[in-house]
Amino acid sequence: MTEPLKVGVAGLGTVGSSVVRVLKQKADAIAARAGRPVVVTAVSARDKGRDRGLDLSGVAWHMDASQLARSNDVDLVVELIGGAEGAARECVETAIERKRPVVTANKALLARHGVALARAAEQADVPIGFEAAVAGGVPIVKTLREGLAGNDVSRVLGILNGTCNYILTRMEHDKIGFAECLADAQKLGYAEADPTFDVGGFDAAHKLALLTSLAFGTETDVDGIYVEGIASITPFDLKMAEELGYRVKLLGVTTRSNGGVEQRVHLAMLPRDSAIARVDGVTNAVEIDADVVGALVLAGPGAGGDATASAVIADIVDIARGIRAPVFGVPATKLAPVRRAAMGTHEGGYYIRLSVIDRPGAAAAIATRMAEQGISLRSIVQRGVEGEFERPSAEPVAVVLITYATNEAAVRSALDAIEADGHIDGAPQVIRIEKR
Ligand SMILES: NC(=O)c1ccc[n+]([C@@H]2O[C@H](COP(=O)([O-])OP(=O)(O)OC[C@H]3O[C@@H](n4cnc5c(N)ncnc54)[C@H](OP(=O)(O)O)[C@@H]3O)[C@@H](O)[C@H]2O)c1
Repeated sequence: MTEPLKVGVAGLGTVGSSVVRVLKQKADAIAARAGRPVVVTAVSARDKGRDRGLDLSGVAWHMDASQLARSNDVDLVVELIGGAEGAARECVETAIERKRPVVTANKALLARHGVALARAAEQADVPIGFEAAVAGGVPIVKTLREGLAGNDVSRVLGILNGTCNYILTRMEHDKIGFAECLADAQKLGYAEADPTFDVGGFDAAHKLALLTSLAFGTETDVDGIYVEGIASITPFDLKMAEELGYRVKLLGVTTRSNGGVEQRVHLAMLPRDSAIARVDGVTNAVEIDADVVGALVLAGPGAGGDATASAVIADIVDIARGIRAPVFGVPATKLAPVRRAAMGTHEGGYYIRLSVIDRPGAAAAIATRMAEQGISLRSIVQRGVEGEFERPSAEPVAVVLITYATNEAAVRSALDAIEADGHIDGAPQVIRIEKR
C-alpha cells in the first residue's frame, strides 16, 4: 500500500467529531476503498479541554485552524467550522495557498465565495470537495457533477432544509400552529435557538445556489435567489392543500429557460402523490429533470453528524484515490455569469388565501380584479363560521382562490388592487403550485 493520506480536521463539533470517529472505526474498509490508509493527524477547535468522546492521542492539536492548514502534518484539510467568513474562510484559503486539497460541509462559505475559491483551487491545482454542503448525506453533488455529465439539466427542485420539513410535517399531522411547532422543534434539537436561518429559507438558499452552479455551469449567485420562509403557514392552509390534493413543502427550485435562470425558495404545493411531496420529517430530497436520463429523485438524511460525515468521507476517499473533478463540474474560468430571470415572470398556478371582509359585492370585486390581470380561476372556496346563516357578519371569512397558470407579476398586481379596494383584512397568503 502507498503512503497514508494525512488528514487535518478543523472543527470538532457535530460533524467534525463524527468524521474523526468514523475514519478511525472504519479505517480498514476506507483504506481499501481509498487505495491507501486515511489517517487523522491534526485537529483544531476552540476548546481543547472539552470531552468529545474521541481518542485524539498522537493527533496534533491546533488552536488556530489556519495553522492546521499550514502544518506539514497534513496533506488534506477538512473544514467543519462553518460560517462564510472568519476562521473557516481563512482555513480554506490557507489550505489552497499551501496547495492542499480541501473538503468542506460549509454551504455558507461556498455560496458566498465558491467561485473565488474554485478559481484559486484550480490555479493551485487542488480539488475542493463539498458533497456534505448540500442535503447532508445525500450524494447530490456527485450526481450532478459526475453522474449526469452527459445530460442538460432543466430543473432541480428539492426539500433542502430538514428543520422546515419537520415543522411542516408535524403541523400537518398534529394540526398545530407554526409557533407551537417551532417551539417543539427547538426542544427536540431540530431547530436552533435562533431559527431565522432555517425557517426564513436562507439555509435552503445557500444550498440552492450551489445546486444551480452544478446544474447549469453558472457562477454562484445567492443574492439572486428569491427567498420566502415558512412562518406564514397556517393549519388552515395545510388542510386546504389536503382537500385540493396537494402537500405543502418549503422548496428550493432552480430552472433555466430562455428568460434566464430562475432561483427561488418558498412554500409550494405539490401533487400529493409526487415523490417530493411524500417526503416527511427531517429528510431531504432532490428531484432533477435532465434531458437524457429523464427525472431522478434522491432522498435521505440531510443533517446529523454521521449522515454528514458520510458525505465528507466520500470526498476524502475520492481525493485519496486521485479522482479529480472541477469544483462546480466545469472549470471555474468557464462558469458563466448568471442571467437572472425576474421573479415577476415566474409562471404557474397559485393558491391565494384572502381574509375577506364579508360584505355584499366583495367576492365579485375580487374576481373582477383577477380578471383584469387575465387570471383565470380554477376554483373559489369560501369558508365562514360553520352553522351561521346570517350574512354578512363582522368577522372576515377565508376565501381561497386557485388559479390556472398565470404569472407572478399579474398575481401581485391583482392583489395590490384587491388590497387597495379595502375588501381584505391582513396580508394575502400566496403559495405557488409547483408543476410536476
Ligand atoms: N450539523 C449538521 O447536521 C450539518 C449538516 C450539513 C452541513 N453542516 C455544516 O458543517 C459545518 C460544521 O457544522 P457543525 O454542526 O458540526 O457545527 P458545530 O457543532 O457548531 O461545530 C463547530 C466546530 O467548529 C469549532 N470552531 C468554531 N470556531 C472556531 C475557530 N475560530 N477555530 C477553530 N475551530 C472553531 C468549534 O469548536 P468548539 O467545539 O471548541 O466550540 C466546533 O468544534 C458547518 O459548515 C455546517 O453548515 C452541518
